[in-house]
Amino acid sequence: MQYHIFNDDWLLDKLYKLDTPCYVYDSKLLEDNLANLNLQIRNCLDYQAVVHYALKANDNQELFTIIKKHNLGVDCVSGGEVEYARRAGFSASDIVFAGVGKTDNEIIQALKQKIYCFNVESQQELEVINQLAAQEGLIASIMLRVNPDIDAKTHKSISTGKYDNKFGMPFSQIIDIVNNLRNYLNIKLIGLHYHIGSQICDLSVYKELALVVSKHYQKLESYGVILSDLNLGGGLGVNYSEPEINPLSNFADYFSILNKNLTINKNIILHFELGRSIVAQCGVLLSSVLYTKQTSHTKFVILDAGMNDLMRPALYNASHKIKVLKQSDIYDYYDVVGPICESTDIFAKQVKLASPVRGDKVVIYTTGAYGYVLANTYNKRDKIREYVY
Ligand SMILES: Cc1ncc(COP(=O)(O)O)c(C=O)c1O
Repeated sequence: MQYHIFNDDWLLDKLYKLDTPCYVYDSKLLEDNLANLNLQIRNCLDYQAVVHYALKANDNQELFTIIKKHNLGVDCVSGGEVEYARRAGFSASDIVFAGVGKTDNEIIQALKQKIYCFNVESQQELEVINQLAAQEGLIASIMLRVNPDIDAKTHKSISTGKYDNKFGMPFSQIIDIVNNLRNYLNIKLIGLHYHIGSQICDLSVYKELALVVSKHYQKLESYGVILSDLNLGGGLGVNYSEPEINPLSNFADYFSILNKNLTINKNIILHFELGRSIVAQCGVLLSSVLYTKQTSHTKFVILDAGMNDLMRPALYNASHKIKVLKQSDIYDYYDVVGPICESTDIFAKQVKLASPVRGDKVVIYTTGAYGYVLANTYNKRDKIREYVY
């Protein structure tokens, strides 16, 4: 395999040099994935398109620099992220700002910077942005976030486009806003925004999204509202069970399905907010076996990495491929757990492993997205370290 993080010898060498637990990122994999992303935009889309990297997925500085080099914009969900992106050298016009709870201060700072647009999630937020823009003598460019009530066919904890999710507004409310736009003197409506969920693997969901987006676009057009932009969000899923098979994301099918099913003006600028599909596969969590033990019905492997270092399994039952880095003919089934004083500190249940013993090295794959960013120091543990190669 051409990538370091799928080469066991390379990983073992690193594991004996680095203190575990730690995250290791493969910059070559990230570079290749980004190059492929830009290639598929050119090959598969009939529109001008901007991908805004969803910074929340991984904010490692070195990776962010690589992402910038590949000409992406940034999708931010807090004032802190806007500031971080600006400090990393992104221009304000590269930044879109989403989030259901933007504070007045965050709005004012973003207004002053003249970011590309706010993705507005409620009518009250729109009123506040209008008022703050008036106070600052500025015009706020905005997209209205639509909640299209689409089932993203993903884990319920990472679904964002159903009516029982807190995000966006039903299209009926968007119509009301649009009918009253003249009351918002400091607002410039440029488009609609959608983000229906994360780790979407059934790509027919994107066909459904494109059809709904087109219907909404046409409806607004019939009201005389001409949009210049549409933001289709992110959410493209990655292969957690067999990451090494094709670590590059399937951007070709993703863009093709959307392109084929959109019936909108070809001058529209399309925006995307991809996070996981850009960075997930380039990261692994390296760990060591502290202990093994057996109860009446379960064999446990206790790692030095815990749920504080990688929250996804405890937070949303996410499953990651786990491997003990050694040759062995003896395999058995184990619950892989961490050292944290919580029963939910479990990485996987009944996973087949090459009989681990104390000191063995263990790799947890596909941890480049929503890994380190969610890590914390619970139980007064040191914050896990990251290394980029
Ligand atoms: C508004 C918004 N855009 C984009 C993303 C990125 O999603 P993903 O990492 O699944 O591509 C998220 C993440 O949940 C989000 O909330």
